[in-house]
Amino acid sequence: MSQLHVSQHPLVLHKLTVLRSVDTDHRSFRELVRELALLLCYEATQDLNLMVQSVKTPMGQAQGYKTQDTIGLVPILRAGLGLVDGVMELLPSVQVWHIGLYRDEKTLRPVEYYNKLPTEPTVNVCLVLDPMLATGGSAVATVDILKKWGVKRIKFVGLIAAPEGVERLTTAHPDVPIHVAALDERLNEVGFIVPGLGDAGDRQFGT
Ligand code: PRP
Repeated sequence: MSQLHVSQHPLVLHKLTVLRSVDTDHRSFRELVRELALLLCYEATQDLNLMVQSVKTPMGQAQGYKTQDTIGLVPILRAGLGLVDGVMELLPSVQVWHIGLYRDEKTLRPVEYYNKLPTEPTVNVCLVLDPMLATGGSAVATVDILKKWGVKRIKFVGLIAAPEGVERLTTAHPDVPIHVAALDERLNEVGFIVPGLGDAGDRQFGT
């Protein structure tokens, strides 16, 4: 599990606790997801490549930097949508490529229903966004799609992971770092993370 990064930031831990609460309403839930996405994105982008770039200040020239990578956000529909706004506050020029997957309730396998990626990759780094890494099936399927597309650097950014999902994603794609706010105990018999936060899609969208 060396590629697993569980945030220790006090703000992340505090906000995640409020997010988990059964008493948190949809509106607060969405706002917390947005804020957590921003904080986790800050941690997940620590190794972006920079090029040196000089900048003119009112007092003279300073040596500065410019990020070199072209970044794509890949929210997994539908729950991943809630993470997009927070990340875009930090990375306003990113491209957003949506991948639609739902998890079959019986088999727990991901079923693809939306993918409009162009033939050639248009970014060199992808952040896969999904609040929950449960069995890991959706994340593995998404990384499979992105690698086939031709992207070499891929990171998973989510809120809560189950050990089963971490194991599955790191086994299938050991090069993909996983950034989350918490590693929970386990999956229950219907594939929900325990203690988790319930259904992240339903809680964001009021369904
Ligand atoms: C949830 C969640 C992930 C997936 C995680 O989505 O948002 O996409 O399940 O499960 P896995 O790791 O076992 O694949 P869901 O299928 O409920 O769809 P939704 O986002 O439309 O609610």
